[in-house]
Amino acid sequence: MTEQSMLFRQVLGAFATGVAVVTTKRQGCYFGLTVNSFSSVSLDPMLIQINIAKNTTSHEYITESGYFVVNILAEDQRQISNIFSGAPPAERFQHVRTWETGSGCPVIEGSLSYIEVKIVETFEGGDHTIFLGEVLQMQTLRDDAQPLLYFRGKYGRLAPEEE
Ligand SMILES: Cc1cc2nc3c(=O)[nH]c(=O)nc-3n(C[C@H](O)[C@H](O)[C@H](O)COP(=O)(O)O)c2cc1C
Repeated sequence: MTEQSMLFRQVLGAFATGVAVVTTKRQGCYFGLTVNSFSSVSLDPMLIQINIAKNTTSHEYITESGYFVVNILAEDQRQISNIFSGAPPAERFQHVRTWETGSGCPVIEGSLSYIEVKIVETFEGGDHTIFLGEVLQMQTLRDDAQPLLYFRGKYGRLAPEEE
């Protein structure tokens, strides 16, 4: 890694984010990976975006599927984030319970909320592809739980509210 790319990582790592697992289904098989480059794009129509590295296994499957689900992780799902960023792709779904949306993509039980989208456009983004998704369906699953956070390459949690 060059000095500039290390600086890029360090500077961008100061932008605290939530953590999500993007899931998809292709030819009857589930695939998924951990992401934090997820954001809302437009309210009318409702659009969201994710940025996926071209060298991931998931990149090909998301592209071919045309649909994906963004599962927004709760504080107690850190292990799931580790599995979906580190375990072999074929083993990841052995560690979670899921159910399917209309497009067949799996929703991970215990997530704070999920958004099912259809890919409407893709853009070149250097070594990543930007996937723009139109919202098909979404739901809050847990409004009592706290989010999993990511900051400077480490997981974090919200500080309790001061009385
Ligand atoms: C907190 C966190 C956030 C991540 N965000 C992204 C992301 O936004 N896009 C991406 O392509 N990879 C991201 N990754 C890396 C992927 O999860 C990782 O490379 C994964 O192993 C890819 O799996 P695959 O090659 O099986 O598809 C992130 C990893 C972590 C731990």
